[in-house]
Amino acid sequence: MRSTLFLAPLLAAITRTRAQHDHLEIPEVEQYVHSMLGEFAHWTHYPGPSPTYWHHPSPRPTKPVPPRPTDQCDYWLADVKHQGIAAFNPSPNTYQVFRNVKDFGAKGDGVTDDTTAINNAVSSGGRLGPAQGGSTTVTPAVVYFPPGVYMINASIIDYYYTQLVGNPNCLPTIRAFPTFSGGLGLIDGDQYGANGLGFGATNIFWRQIRNFIIDMTLVPAGSSVTGIHWPTAQATSIQNVIFQMSSNNGTQHQGIFIESGSGGFMNDLIFNGGLNGAVFGNQQFTMRNLTFNNAVTAISQIWDWGWTYKSITINNCTVGLNMASGGPAAQSVGSVTFIDSSISNTAIGILTAHGPNSLPPSGGSLILENVVFSNVGVAIEGEYPTGNTTALAGGSFTVAGWGEGHSYKPNGPQIFEGAITPVSRPASLLQGGGKYYERSKPQYQQYSVQRFLSARSVGATGDGHTDDTAALQRAILAAKAQGKILFIDHGDYLVSSTIYLPAGSRIVGESYSVILSHGNFFNNINAPQPVVQIGKPGESGSIEWSDMIVSTQGQQRGAVLFEYNLNSPSSSPSGIWDVHARIGGFAGSSLQLAECPTIPNIVVTADNLDQQCIAAFMTMHLTKPSSGLYLENVWLWVADHDIEDPQLRQITIYAGRGLLDQSQSGTVWMVGTAVEHHVKYEYQFADTHTVFAGQIQTETAYYQPNPSAPLPFPYLASLNDPVFPNTTAVDGNLTIPAADGWGLRIVGSSDIHIYGAGLYSFFDNYSTDCSNQGNGEVCQDRIFEEVDSSGITVYNLNTVGAHYQIELNGVDVAYYADNLNGFVDTVALFRD
Ligand SMILES: *[C@@H]1O[C@H](CO)[C@@H](O)[C@H](O)[C@H]1NC(C)=O
Ligand SMILES: *[C@@H]1O[C@H](CO)[C@@H](O)[C@H](O)[C@H]1NC(C)=O
Ligand SMILES: *[C@@H]1O[C@H](CO)[C@@H](O)[C@H](O)[C@H]1NC(C)=O
Ligand SMILES: *[C@@H]1O[C@H](CO)[C@@H](O)[C@H](O)[C@H]1NC(C)=O
Ligand SMILES: *[C@@H]1O[C@H](CO)[C@@H](O)[C@H](O)[C@H]1NC(C)=O
Ligand SMILES: *[C@@H]1O[C@H](CO)[C@@H](O)[C@H](O)[C@H]1NC(C)=O
Ligand SMILES: *[C@@H]1O[C@H](CO)[C@@H](O)[C@H](O)[C@H]1NC(C)=O
Ligand SMILES: *[C@@H]1O[C@H](CO)[C@@H](O)[C@H](O)[C@H]1NC(C)=O
Repeated sequence: MRSTLFLAPLLAAITRTRAQHDHLEIPEVEQYVHSMLGEFAHWTHYPGPSPTYWHHPSPRPTKPVPPRPTDQCDYWLADVKHQGIAAFNPSPNTYQVFRNVKDFGAKGDGVTDDTTAINNAVSSGGRLGPAQGGSTTVTPAVVYFPPGVYMINASIIDYYYTQLVGNPNCLPTIRAFPTFSGGLGLIDGDQYGANGLGFGATNIFWRQIRNFIIDMTLVPAGSSVTGIHWPTAQATSIQNVIFQMSSNNGTQHQGIFIESGSGGFMNDLIFNGGLNGAVFGNQQFTMRNLTFNNAVTAISQIWDWGWTYKSITINNCTVGLNMASGGPAAQSVGSVTFIDSSISNTAIGILTAHGPNSLPPSGGSLILENVVFSNVGVAIEGEYPTGNTTALAGGSFTVAGWGEGHSYKPNGPQIFEGAITPVSRPASLLQGGGKYYERSKPQYQQYSVQRFLSARSVGATGDGHTDDTAALQRAILAAKAQGKILFIDHGDYLVSSTIYLPAGSRIVGESYSVILSHGNFFNNINAPQPVVQIGKPGESGSIEWSDMIVSTQGQQRGAVLFEYNLNSPSSSPSGIWDVHARIGGFAGSSLQLAECPTIPNIVVTADNLDQQCIAAFMTMHLTKPSSGLYLENVWLWVADHDIEDPQLRQITIYAGRGLLDQSQSGTVWMVGTAVEHHVKYEYQFADTHTVFAGQIQTETAYYQPNPSAPLPFPYLASLNDPVFPNTTAVDGNLTIPAADGWGLRIVGSSDIHIYGAGLYSFFDNYSTDCSNQGNGEVCQDRIFEEVDSSGITVYNLNTVGAHYQIELNGVDVAYYADNLNGFVDTVALFRD
């Protein structure tokens, strides 16, 4: 029998883990835990085949392949000189960023218990572990695993700001002994303590796990075991991992377990066997290229607000996606968008509790597009477990488009279930087979270390106080000239003028190396300057960039963190993966609790607004001449709290605009992106077209409307800035702030296709009273505006705290109370 012992700490956690800030997912967790106690009872019979063993797949380079290194397992990241520094650590000269587990005594010989050695590699150096909680940016680590089989008898305990990286050419195996015990996960990404989760699940940022085989097959099938426990927030990823589980009758194994958080992104995962390939519960996620073979349930979706699945392959399972959690009277799954996928040889493709009478009214919203069913008993089974209905019969066929929930086309709500007209997909956004283009973060494993140039080796310091502008620029140009990949060793690279990335650049950081702008050059609100300029206007070609952060230090009223100008062909677009913006709230920013505290009790005006806390003009600008950009797992964050403060207290930072796409030729992919806490808007598409985006996620600035969105950045017509009303809105007994920033604004554009959106407004002048559903209150009047546009689709629009979910050409079309869905309000299908 499955042990439910692991649920005890989860229950304990509920009493404590109420999010410190915004993400109030606890009711869903609670609901889940109670349902878990009675769950799994009906899976008593599963005649699954034996586990299949998979070999490491060949690398899939995106560039011409140079000769392979002589040793097939050579990996440049292991061989490169390790000289990354944590500039704002109290001991930057001795703190070790890169760690090889073998240097800490791990054997990887398939016999020795390596648990302690690996945990020492993770924890050494006074790093922040789950026992302390809180968060910090000053103890980053890359923990590297050479090829081998690492036996463990207890969990590997993951720490804050950690990348666990295996050798991608010869994947290391982390294998549990049959006696494995004592933890929730071979890798426990957030260990429970007496008071619940160690790190608040919605505040764990900047971490990765990649290139592993996680092997549970020695653990008896009947023992409950989890591969990775991963309650997590933004700027996190799991990539290129194979989970090996028992598929014997009665298996209790599961690959990934997520019960809370605000994610997130994952890609290129294979799950073999298991009771559940994966158990997922989190506000939102984007997941791409996941394969499930021979599980009882491939994906058990325990709760969510919105989730985007792309390129999912499910083979030989009993249930593909179970999103029936909570049952028809209390569905806990808000919405799912499931595209470009296949489900084969499976009894029930998708099991849902949604039906004409289910609650909440728009709970279980579901959209399918381009999904191949093959030899499936029932494709979609609804209203489980009381009175099962077949929503879509089984067989072998392709679903072009199907959905259920509430629609606005553009008026509504209409309650619908059945076939829908799929998006007419622009050809330039597609790869073969009609699927949207997708491209995983390059790890450059096919290149030997000679093909890399280290920024520190050629003179950039990354020490957080030397001006590195010239040295970093020289390194970028030298790498390009020599046809090399620039490795920006971990560090904080202070720059006082623009860093230019020419076409042809390939740049990779180390656990998020930081480019940190400062000084007068970036401080003129009337003459903004790019911190990182990707191509000059008119320049053609493409770049690749991964694993970095761009930030500002102190007052930077004219800083545009990313300016993308390149004209990249749609056949080989520029790619940016795991590159984030972090504005304020961290050591080295000079924009922390001491400098920029919250001031809710003072009415903020143009006269008393703290000008020192204006930290950016705009975060990302896709300029008019630009085109062809693929963004994946990119989080543009203006700090709402001080990361280094043990209590994570809130702060007030002003950054004018989030992500502005004005590309006239379009062709942009935004896969798993999020933009938070800017003044005027989070995402704005203006005079552009041809965009695939999903899942997008935003949060309105917590201080608004004190001050409201017109402050402190002057209106600029050239940037299509929104004009805000000066009034408040009144609805019955409610007085609603009208001038909070937009979550999403689409102006003069066409062919913008959004596959899942979470636009959240949790706060009003730092109070969450307005987003507590049941109060009949809201935090802001409107959150998504479309003006003078056509050919716009939004699937599974989830909003929090917005009075109207959609405003179309000045008319409010979706009233929140018409689309209640637990903590969020959901429109499954919007089409203009
Ligand atoms: C699976 O296990 C159950 C319970 O032990 C048993 O009743 C059933 O016969 C088994 N099925 C197979 C195919 O072995
Ligand atoms: C693993 O731990 C168990 C106790 O939990 C112990 O009995 C067993 O000997 C350990 N095995 C190894 C290989 O360390
Ligand atoms: C999908 O993931 C698998 C496993 O990591 C990988 O081998 C494959 O190349 C990925 N596919 C794509 C299209 O990236
Ligand atoms: C699925 O099951 C069939 C029959 O049991 C088997 O032949 C096939 O290899 C399985 N496929 C996978 C991917 O495991
Ligand atoms: C509904 O379907 C589920 C899953 O197939 C099954 O376990 C359950 O017994 C069914 N309930 C009814 C009332 O038919
Ligand atoms: C913000 O909230 C505080 C505390 O409730 C209140 O005293 C203050 O008046 C509010 N300010 C504005 C501008 O609404
Ligand atoms: C709001 O007030 C400001 C300052 O008084 C003014 O410039 C702006 O035009 C007003 N906006 C609207 C929409 O009336
Ligand atoms: C507003 O009025 C509604 C009924 O119209 C009531 O349910 C709600 O409690 C009132 N809210 C407040 C904050 O008074």
